[in-house]
Amino acid sequence: MSGFFITLEGVDGAGKSTHVEWLAERLRAHGPVVATREPGGTPLGERLRELLLQPPGGNAPHVETEALLMFAARREHIAQVIEPALERGDIVLCDRYTDATFAYQGGGHGMDASRLRVLEAWTLSAGKGYPQPGLTFLFDIAPEVAAARRGARNGGAQPDRFEREGAAFQAKVRAAYLRRAHDEPDRIKIIDGAQDVEGVRRQLAGVLDMVLRP
Ligand code: TYD
Repeated sequence: MSGFFITLEGVDGAGKSTHVEWLAERLRAHGPVVATREPGGTPLGERLRELLLQPPGGNAPHVETEALLMFAARREHIAQVIEPALERGDIVLCDRYTDATFAYQGGGHGMDASRLRVLEAWTLSAGKGYPQPGLTFLFDIAPEVAAARRGARNGGAQPDRFEREGAAFQAKVRAAYLRRAHDEPDRIKIIDGAQDVEGVRRQLAGVLDMVLRP
């Protein structure tokens, strides 16, 4: 595989959606870009996303069911979109990936990280492989600031299930993300999401210039 795989992560409301298009545009200077997201990115994955964010009957599934569905959507996404794009030599820009499962199902919902690693390893052994991002932007922000932003952005629209879980949940998700960033500093670059749009773009551009330097 000769392409480059970049993922965006962070608690809900950290601001990554605001920057996806800008990042994709900037990356196009380096080659073809496939912008995609998880859960989702394929027709099956988007159906699974709906089921995960609005579970039938309104009841949250068991956390391990949630994790299995995230990995099922991911397996399909890898096979249909990510792997073919990387093999073509494209840049893949993915809004959330495996770090989100460790942060939300692991940190937020308390699923044992060792069980998540089993699923990751199992998926890794399938097919041609399991692409790992070469670069991950972690949009970091205090849960209260993120909640205020989500309120303003949604403008009365229904927040999704994970957004409704409250500040304590989001704080656990954030802590899990920061632990991963601490363990993998070369891959995971922390972006201060509390800055204004220009400030965040300056941080993103600084990292991209270093990583993509010819
Ligand atoms: P998100 O892209 O933040 O949705 P939006 O575009 O509406 O901002 O992601 C949807 C939700 O899915 C988000 O709350 C995090 C959750 N999620 C998990 O819990 N585990 C995962 O593995 C992934 C990929 C997402």
